[in-house]
Amino acid sequence: MERTLAIIKPDGTAARLIGEVIRRIEDEGLVIVAMRMELLSERKAEGFYFVHRHKPFFHSLVKFMTSGPVVLMVLEGDNAISRWRTLMGATDPRKADAGTIRRDLATDIERNVVHGSDGPDTAVYEINYFFKGDELCSGY
Ligand code: CDP
Ligand code: MG
Repeated sequence: MERTLAIIKPDGTAARLIGEVIRRIEDEGLVIVAMRMELLSERKAEGFYFVHRHKPFFHSLVKFMTSGPVVLMVLEGDNAISRWRTLMGATDPRKADAGTIRRDLATDIERNVVHGSDGPDTAVYEINYFFKGDELCSGY
C-alpha cells in the first residue's frame, strides 16, 4: 500500500474538470483518503515547488498555481505513485500517451491540469506539506 499527493491545478478547476479527474482516479481503483480545495498563497506555491526554484519556468509556474483554486488530494493504493503518474501522462501533453489526463485535457506543458508526486520520498514530503495525519481517512 502506497500514498501519493494529487493536485487538480487551477486550469483544471477553471475548466470544471474536477469531476472528470476524480472519475478517472476512482475508475483506476485508487482511493481518495484526503481532499481539500485551496487558493494557494505565493509563499505556499513557492515552497511546494522549491526544487524547481532555479528553473526558468519557476515564476510563471508559481503565478499559474496561485491564479485560482486547486484541489489537493491524497490517493492510496498498491503502487499509487506510479499508477497516478501513468493516469496523468507526461508533463508535456504533446508527449503524453493517448487516454491520459494530460493528453486528453491539458493546454500546454505548464497548464497541464494535474500534479503527482514522482517518488516515495517526494510523496511523503508533499503529503505532509498539505495535510496533517488526522486529516487522512485511510482504510475505508
Ligand atoms: O508535473 P511533473 O512532475 O510532470 O513535471 P515537473 O518537471 O516536476 O514540473 C512541475 C511543473 O512545472 C509541471 O507540471 C508544469 O506545470 C511546470 N513546467 C513548466 O511550466 N515548464 C516546463 N518546461 C516544465 C514544467
Ligand atoms: Mg514533478
